[in-house]
Amino acid sequence: MPAEKRISDAELAARVVRPAFGEVLTEHMVSVQWSAEQGWHQAEIVPYAPMLIDPAMVGLHYGQVVFEGLKAYRQPDGSVAAFRAVDHARRFQRSATRLAMPEPPVELFLDALAELVAADRRWVPEDDTKSLYLRPILYATDPSLALRPGTRYRLLVLAMVTETFFGEGAPPVSVWASTRYARAARGGTGEAKCAGNYAGGFVAQVEAVEHGCRQVVWLDAAEHTWVEEMGGMNIFFGYGDHLVTPPLSGTLLPGITRSSVLTLATELGMTVEERMLSLAQWRADCASHAMTEAFACGTAAVITPVGHVAAESGEFRIGDGRPGPAAARLRTALVGVQRGRVPDRHGWRHEL
Ligand code: PLP
Ligand code: COI
Repeated sequence: MPAEKRISDAELAARVVRPAFGEVLTEHMVSVQWSAEQGWHQAEIVPYAPMLIDPAMVGLHYGQVVFEGLKAYRQPDGSVAAFRAVDHARRFQRSATRLAMPEPPVELFLDALAELVAADRRWVPEDDTKSLYLRPILYATDPSLALRPGTRYRLLVLAMVTETFFGEGAPPVSVWASTRYARAARGGTGEAKCAGNYAGGFVAQVEAVEHGCRQVVWLDAAEHTWVEEMGGMNIFFGYGDHLVTPPLSGTLLPGITRSSVLTLATELGMTVEERMLSLAQWRADCASHAMTEAFACGTAAVITPVGHVAAESGEFRIGDGRPGPAAARLRTALVGVQRGRVPDRHGWRHEL
């Protein structure tokens, strides 16, 4: 194999100045194969490059694809730690099971992250506003149009340098409550992180942008009434120091940031409640000023205030439209653990 050509430090520095989400991939990726005969095998780290695929691949035709998203952060002592890597590994397993795929072992998942970060360590930003986003993906590779689950799979892990999803210091986002489309119904794939959930949501995301909004907020599929989550993040509503978030009904993604926020909020002396909230009640609670703020949370979004809601039935502002105090306190607490500024009381940092 010819000696691998790596980009210079100067070019690397230039590429990561303002990394738009999803655009600045690192130089390597992990690749692992699975077959019914051999199980998991051929784990290797390879240069990031386009790959050959079979045009009849099951993953491409029938969408047998699941993925994860987690971040690695530079720590004050120069080491690198991923946030809640084991929880992401377990969700990856549950998503795989839902899509009739083999479950990648937790150790394999963690080793893949460690190998990739070792190879691309110089890409892990030193700068406090950036991190390394890790993207494991698993898909069926069998070249067959027969309508059945694959018998061969490939697991890749990619890495990219990123700021937060909406850009650092972005103003509170506006959201579009979709009543025309639905993301997930009972018994469907809503709580799995599968590619098809996102493909099915793009049309509503386009609609959101057409209405001047940055994200779609999904309502339940049965009644188009109850707020569930956003296109790529969970949602919280703040009533002063009391937080409300939709319950894990089976149709929304059980966000790891959501779970962290529930824990941290309690530790910060806030009260938390998992209960359903309708779009109509959301509007009424804003009109009466009972609801003081709302925010989105997720790996990509971290904690991002939501300031404005638009829907076919009209629009309304949340609080005074500015970032709220609960979101700010929670963001500081969350980022503190992620970046190693405060003690890790829950074993959330995973050194890579
Ligand atoms: N909901 C959806 C649809 C998502 O894509 C994400 C992001 O992964 C989340 C919620 C938040 O999940 P997490 O906090 O685990 O990143
Ligand atoms: C993440 O936060 O990891 C996500 O998957 C959502 C993102 C792609 C918008």
